Amino acid sequence: MAKSTFLTLCLHPLVVISQLLQGNDSFVKVAGPDVHIAIPTIGVGSQTLETPLPYAFPDQNVANTDALFPMPLCNGITLEEATIDQLQDYMGRGVLTSTQIALCYMERIWQTDEYINSVLEVNPDFLQIAASLDAERETGKVRGPLHGIPFMVKDNIATKDRMQTTAGSVALLGSIVPRDAMIVSKLRAAGALLLGKATLSEWADMRSNNYSEGYSARGGQARSPYNLTLNPGGSSSGSAAGVAANVFMFALGTETDGSIINPAERNAIVGIKPTVGLTSRAGVIPESAHQDSPGPFGKTVRDAVYVLDAIYGPDGRDNYTSAQIGKTPREGYMQFLTDRSALANATFGIPWASFWALADTEQQNKLLELVELIRSAGATIVNNTELPTYKTIVSPDGWNWDYGTTRGFPNESEYTVVKVDFYNNIRDYLSELENTEIKNVEDLVTYNYANDGSEGGHPWPLGIPAFYSGQDGFLASLESKGIMDEAYFQALAFCQRTTREDGIDAALAMGPNGSKLDALLVPPDIGQTYQIAAQAGYPMITLPAGVHSMTGMPFGLALMQSAWGEPELVKWGSAIEDLQLSSGTPYKRTLPKWYGYLEKNIPVLNL
Ligand SMILES: *[C@@H]1O[C@H](CO)[C@@H](O)[C@H](O)[C@H]1NC(C)=O
Ligand SMILES: *[C@@H]1O[C@H](CO)[C@@H](O)[C@H](O)[C@H]1NC(C)=O
Ligand SMILES: *[C@@H]1O[C@H](CO)[C@@H](O)[C@H](O)[C@H]1NC(C)=O
Ligand SMILES: *[C@@H]1O[C@H](CO)[C@@H](O)[C@H](O)[C@H]1NC(C)=O
Ligand SMILES: *[C@@H]1O[C@H](CO)[C@@H](O)[C@H](O)[C@H]1NC(C)=O
Ligand SMILES: *[C@@H]1O[C@H](CO)[C@@H](O)[C@H](O)[C@H]1NC(C)=O
Ligand SMILES: *[C@@H]1O[C@H](CO)[C@@H](O)[C@H](O)[C@H]1NC(C)=O
Ligand SMILES: *[C@@H]1O[C@H](CO)[C@@H](O)[C@H](O)[C@H]1NC(C)=O
Repeated sequence: MAKSTFLTLCLHPLVVISQLLQGNDSFVKVAGPDVHIAIPTIGVGSQTLETPLPYAFPDQNVANTDALFPMPLCNGITLEEATIDQLQDYMGRGVLTSTQIALCYMERIWQTDEYINSVLEVNPDFLQIAASLDAERETGKVRGPLHGIPFMVKDNIATKDRMQTTAGSVALLGSIVPRDAMIVSKLRAAGALLLGKATLSEWADMRSNNYSEGYSARGGQARSPYNLTLNPGGSSSGSAAGVAANVFMFALGTETDGSIINPAERNAIVGIKPTVGLTSRAGVIPESAHQDSPGPFGKTVRDAVYVLDAIYGPDGRDNYTSAQIGKTPREGYMQFLTDRSALANATFGIPWASFWALADTEQQNKLLELVELIRSAGATIVNNTELPTYKTIVSPDGWNWDYGTTRGFPNESEYTVVKVDFYNNIRDYLSELENTEIKNVEDLVTYNYANDGSEGGHPWPLGIPAFYSGQDGFLASLESKGIMDEAYFQALAFCQRTTREDGIDAALAMGPNGSKLDALLVPPDIGQTYQIAAQAGYPMITLPAGVHSMTGMPFGLALMQSAWGEPELVKWGSAIEDLQLSSGTPYKRTLPKWYGYLEKNIPVLNL
């Protein structure tokens, strides 16, 4: 906390923001640790706006263009599409303070949240934290590349502050967490500015099997700025939509089976799902200890890797993280960032029948054009590098985490493991909470039934349209009683073997003349790609790769690797990104056009 008298604190943040909103860039002046706020006399006349456009209302004359929600300048500086390096440069040169940047992002929240709803809760202490980070910088201490950079975390990641941690459920309102999640604590130590909690699919999609992606009782419906009527990707929906719409600089999400890669690729941003055990799950509301993995969202690979570097590492509270010892690079992952010239040495595999054949023709064609560009940059592309097990383990009909059961073998199904793990892991998580009566899956089920109107315990129409199938996911977990029987262990062993040594690793070994491939290139809009990586516990990165003509929704190009293959993912991901940005290809990140910005359909459509 700065030693200053700190007048800002007496002022409601929104008063400050309203001045910025009116384009008064001279309103906030920051000098040293003291934040001097000039409080203008707001006369009756100045309370009304003759021209609220373009910032206060979306102008229907520019509907279906990226000008619909123009991001206001921040003290004359363009923040839209700014990178972490650019923000550091502004702060380092004294052009902007972290306080100013945070206020400008607050203004962006104000402008967009009624529409895309990426924010669930704002950190009431963000101004004080920003001011103390500014004060620290004034004294010459810069903690690192994330010093003063505003971010949000998915609401299933514990923060030991004045914010709630609820997985979007009203059942956990008022509960008190024992401590920050390790990954949050690491980001605070790195100087990043926690601006708030992002919306999500409630309970990270564990509770229902037919639901509106991005919806939670506490947070409402998160929407993608690319097409607000459609599935925004999930379950880290708000984290991804907010980064995509420049509502915050970066975000953390969590993945059990797709919840980082899917929302990242559907919002034209970079998402990294680390190897299970690289990033601690301590303080993260769990689904399955075998598959859960928190990771970063950023607009560029470099931004995402700054965050990965800050959050990975062993943690005594999550014993899976001990597996990384000796397997991670000494100096972090930034050293692997490279450019397109590296592609001259790359050899990538295309698991065509395993995954690509499942994509629609438009995506196949566009992604193949991108692959052709990668080849023309010097890379060797090897087609038909299939997972030997694909005919058994890859669902032909879309994402299905109970595909083993669909085939007639529950003892070979991912869901057999996840529903048992959830029962046990959530009980352990809840046991550390204070100020709540919710202790286990039984309590959650009872609560949801008792609050049908908000939580949709029963299937629609007794419950709510967003949870069409009610809480069938919780009921399946409840029925398992968390018993780790023979079927559980068979399923665990089967899922791991068929996706690891007999799956992804075998495909990676199909390089020319028995050499190893540098990565598998896959279309992550095909959910079975991240589904197989999820069962393996293996890492993935997705890069923005184009927009679908029928829906306006983005899709990605993803790279798959083996356990602890993050150096390769960072290297080749950054090389391909540099190629995209430096070549005139249309198959890269583009700004959202906010299709359907006035529609409020629930459930969102799964197109
Ligand atoms: C901007 O804020 C300053 C300081 O409060 C004030 O003097 C000035 O009149 C404001 N300008 C506008 C255009 O509102
Ligand atoms: C899932 O929910 C939608 C309504 O949101 C419904 O139309 C559809 O039939 C449901 N699917 C199944 C398999 O029940
Ligand atoms: C973590 O600890 C649990 C319980 O003590 C144990 O069953 C499990 O095998 C350990 N996992 C790892 C990866 O060390
Ligand atoms: C290609 O790999 C070789 C051997 O590892 C290395 O010496 C060379 O610098 C690499 N070239 C590029 C462009 O990265
Ligand atoms: C890979 O092979 C399949 C046939 O197995 C073909 O349809 C596809 O176009 C090929 N893809 C590339 C990138 O060569
Ligand atoms: C699953 O059970 C079937 C018998 O129903 C058996 O044939 C199969 O080998 C089992 N799978 C595994 C992975 O043990
Ligand atoms: C594979 O081996 C053949 C025959 O030894 C050789 O001509 C070819 O260049 C090798 N290819 C690669 C990619 O090393
Ligand atoms: C947005 O999605 C809707 C489906 O809800 C679709 O009808 C519409 O065409 C999409 N908009 C654009 C511009 O692609």
